[in-house]
Formats: sequence, C-alpha cells, structure tokens
Amino acid sequence: MKGLILAAGRGTRLRPLTHTRPKPVIRVAGRPIIHYAVENLLAAGMEEIGVVVSPETEKDIREALSGYKVRYLLQEEPQGLAHAVAVARGFLGDGPFVLYLGDNLFQRGIGRFLEAFREGVSAVLALVRVKDPRQFGVAVLEGDRIVRLLEKPKEPPSDLAVAGVYVFGPEIWETVEGLKPSARGEYEITDAIQGLIDRGRKVVGVEVEGWWKDTGRPQDLLDANRLLLEELSPKVEGEVVKSQLTGRVVVEKGAKVVGSTVIGPAFIGEGAVVEEAYVGPFTSLGPGARVVRAEVEYSILEDHALLEDVALRLQESILGVGAEVRSRNGLPRAHRLILGDLSQVELA
Ligand code: G1P
Repeated sequence: MKGLILAAGRGTRLRPLTHTRPKPVIRVAGRPIIHYAVENLLAAGMEEIGVVVSPETEKDIREALSGYKVRYLLQEEPQGLAHAVAVARGFLGDGPFVLYLGDNLFQRGIGRFLEAFREGVSAVLALVRVKDPRQFGVAVLEGDRIVRLLEKPKEPPSDLAVAGVYVFGPEIWETVEGLKPSARGEYEITDAIQGLIDRGRKVVGVEVEGWWKDTGRPQDLLDANRLLLEELSPKVEGEVVKSQLTGRVVVEKGAKVVGSTVIGPAFIGEGAVVEEAYVGPFTSLGPGARVVRAEVEYSILEDHALLEDVALRLQESILGVGAEVRSRNGLPRAHRLILGDLSQVELA
C-alpha cells in the first residue's frame, strides 16, 4: 500500500510562524511535525510515500525530509484536499492508499485504521470526539458505518470530527474525478467521500485511540509539544557542565548546558546552548537555539532562536526560527520591538 502526505497548505491560522515556512516543518519535541507522519506511515508498512507540496512549501518540506526516501508531487494551486489527491493520481495508481494530512499528530499511529480497512470496505476515516466540531469535517454514524459527512458545518449533527487520516480503496477515484468545487471554491475530500456513501459504498469510522492533535493554532503546537515530551526517553549526548538535569531530559550532540538547571521533560536540540539559565518542563529548543541568563518553560524555541538576559521567565511562548528576545541596557528604559506581521507579544 502507498501513503500520501499532504503538505501544500499555507497554514494561515499559524501566522506569523507560517509566513516564512509551512506548518509541517515547525518542530514539536525537537522534530518537524511531518516526521511523525512519515514515521507512522513507515511503521504501518507503507511501500512508498508520496508528499504533495506546493510551490510555496516545496523547498522547506524537501529540506525537512532530507533523510527520508519519498516522492514529491507538486500541487500548483491550492484547490482543496481532493484536488491534492488527484494530483497524486499517477503515483497512487489503482491500489488502496492512506491519505495523511501533514499537520496532524496521532499518539498511537494508524494501525487501527488499516485493520478496519482490511475488513473489505471502500474507505476508513479516523474520527475523534471534540467539544467544538465546527472547524472540522463531521461524521454521522450508524453502527460503525458513516452515513453522512459534512465539512465544517455551522450546526454539527454530531461531535465526531474527522481526524486527518483516511484509508481509501480505488473506488475513491469514481467520485474524486468529476467533483464540483464547494461554496469556498475548493475540491473537498469530504464531498468525494459523501459521494461514495451516496453510491452505497461502505465507509466506516474508527475512533482514534490515545491523543490526536490538528496543529492549526499556536496553542495546539504547545499542547502537541507537551504531549510528545511526556513520552520522551532521556538521553544526554551533548556537554553538561556544572548543571543540574532533573527528570526526562534530552541533550542532543553538540548541545551545551553550562551552569544551568533543566527540569524535564525537556528537549535541547543539536548545537543548542543553555547558559546560566533555567529551562523548565515542556520546553523544546531547536538546533542552535540559545537560552542565556534567562528562564523559560512550557515553550518552543525553534532553530537558532535566542533568549538572552531577560529577567522575567518566558512561558507558553513560541519563538520562530532566528527570533530573538533580549534585554536592552541603558537609556531610555523602553521596550524595543521589531515584529513581523501578526506577531503577538504579551508584556507582564
Ligand atoms: C481538514 C479537513 C477536515 C478535517 C481536518 C482535520 O481541514 O477538511 O475535514 O476535519 O482537516 O485536521 P483543514 O484543517 O484543512 O481546514
């Protein structure tokens, strides 16, 4: 079976983080989100993996996946999930396949959904009960069979949201080809699946076990980071000098922790520096990030981000690639901010 990861989206709800980079390359617990998708597909025995990219996302996605053997498929225009699948028609051929949205995270992998598919159905959808289903695809079940599917309904008929993994038999091409654009002008995979249901095909829903995260908003990234760090196995490969590491802490090779306190679970990435600093629980530092004479917890610092000489502890924060927060000496005693569009700062 083949796996298809969609990584062509613009991630508008995660701006400013996604102004310069696509969402699936943002790191949680030290690794780009898309790595978890590839690993889950490989663990489920996929023979080949295709990744749908757009002209905007291709370069970054290729870089993030440089260690993996995957096929890249270019979706020139953002025309919806069903369109992205159609772009991969040649790669997928006539066999069954797994569709995996590149910004979704599943704690327990995708084995359950494949098992359900082997019972001889046309499609399996991963479902999750959520408080507010209005921002998702929503399914109505009879037994395990999905009888209705709606994309982001204003009045959801159930609390079962469609999570980002689907297993399809080749029947899906009957309805993907010939699909009409939705009200928002996109070719919706939800409509293609509803088409299967209308033709009497068996489409089943399987509830996700363990946690699931659609990393749509900044708080989701912090949550995902926390959940993944909960499962961290401690490992120290970098240099630790006159410091105290408590709990599950990873210090990757080339990283340096000097005169500092780190309380896990925490991830200190390759070449990162923690100096005379405090790094608290649920914090990840990307490669080359630096925390110097400062305190941080429950936060994500991406590659080469810098936190230096800041008196007040940083919490629930995300610093993007190369972002810098440092104190300013001398007069005037004022904040000096250079923030990109849609940046968010909360001063205490
Ligand atoms: C997409 C799907 C939606 C699904 C969601 C899961 O929406 O269209 O049905 O519930 O992914 O993450 P998007 O997040 O692209 O708006």
